[in-house]
Amino acid sequence: MNDPRFRLNPAQAAELVAQFGTPLYVLDEATLRTTMRAYRASFEGRLSFAAKANPASAVLAIAYREGFGIDVASEGELRAALYGGVPAEACTMHGNNKSLAEIQFALSVGIGEIVADNFSELDKFIGLDFSMTRLLLRLAPGVDPITHEKISTGQEDTKFGFSISGGDAERAVKYCLDRGLPLVGIHCHVGSQLLEPSAQIAGGEALARFAVEMLTKYGWRCELLNVGGGLGVRYIHEEPMPIADYCASIVTAVKPILDAAGLDPVLAQEPGRSLVAEAGVTLYTVGAVKLAAGRRYVVVDGGLAENPRPALYGAEYAVERVLSHSDVSNLRPATELTPAPNPLLTGERMGLPTRLSGRHCETDTLIEDVDLPDDIQPGDVLQKLATGAYSSSMASNYNRYPRPATVLIRTTGDFVVIQRAETHDELLAREQVPADLLQTKERS
Ligand code: LLP
Repeated sequence: MNDPRFRLNPAQAAELVAQFGTPLYVLDEATLRTTMRAYRASFEGRLSFAAKANPASAVLAIAYREGFGIDVASEGELRAALYGGVPAEACTMHGNNKSLAEIQFALSVGIGEIVADNFSELDKFIGLDFSMTRLLLRLAPGVDPITHEKISTGQEDTKFGFSISGGDAERAVKYCLDRGLPLVGIHCHVGSQLLEPSAQIAGGEALARFAVEMLTKYGWRCELLNVGGGLGVRYIHEEPMPIADYCASIVTAVKPILDAAGLDPVLAQEPGRSLVAEAGVTLYTVGAVKLAAGRRYVVVDGGLAENPRPALYGAEYAVERVLSHSDVSNLRPATELTPAPNPLLTGERMGLPTRLSGRHCETDTLIEDVDLPDDIQPGDVLQKLATGAYSSSMASNYNRYPRPATVLIRTTGDFVVIQRAETHDELLAREQVPADLLQTKERS
């Protein structure tokens, strides 16, 4: 099977571990650009990158240079795009509870588009300066995708968007027309990690039919029809639809409905995961190996904080050993001693199941039943594949671990840090201890 996921070779891994240590997020620029070009070659409409998947400013800069706009879901993501040299007019702001301050910031920098999610938000827009910004409505098309419930968003019972079948979508169009808001288009995003396109197609068709209805009823011409993101990636055995087929299937379904009514809006998509996931790996060092209750535990220096997806969605990943402890002990500074291999744990593991575990203070399983070599030892380095999306962007400081760096492998082969690791000082910088609590006196 052709496996396009990026993986490090041992020489690259050795250099990265020597320079940056672990845990470490790594992204491959060549894979990023190849995937972005595949989308561009397959889709005539407008493409934006959903920044939430990986909002490192350098990643947003690459996406922009590859011809993508940037979809941001907050002021923070917008600032990351601007910091990466993306002009505000190439950005679209989403979110189902944007604050007035966020909206004002976006308008003040001249954001290209804002997507309104509900009537409370539309009310906030009245009287604001939309002279540089176009308005879209997020619609709930009533489509139930096959994916984890936490990343299903197109169904009727959802916090997102104006319901088409319930009439809110039509009322929202009227609201904008009556108040002179610069409504240019409609949007939906039905779900994420979808391996086949029926949900996105159904969402796009619902939008197209709605656009036709609004033309007929109010003479409103939809100029932009955005079907969101959602295409899935290979984590373990998944076989997502090829990008070209996916894009073609959307256009083939949506275009005829629009053509028949003489509507010709720009079609738009905003993929996140499928642009970046397979370009990334996470490197870990094995810190402990132990046997318990007929199981082998392999414990790494990451887990819940650096990637909460297994805990949140039962997400699974492929992991492989890329360096053995003997390779690594030559690289580490002498102060960082690699523990000697435990002879009890080498050799046959007698068919015991192996659980890959994290270092946090709860049962943070990274992979339930993982295939790792029998002689896995503390000091071995593992790479977890397809972690370019929703890993670093969802990381936390649980147990007060500083968040790891992200290194980009440039197309020249050079390594550059695009997000440096946090430091303990940075974590402590937020602390404020009332002075009386610091006074030395007896505890009661
Ligand atoms: N557009 C909108 C409005 C979205 O809300 C999303 C993702 C996308 C585009 C991009 O979707 P993608 O192509 O990445 O599927 N944290 C979850 C994923 C949440 C996705 C939320 N919205 C995870 O780690 O699986």
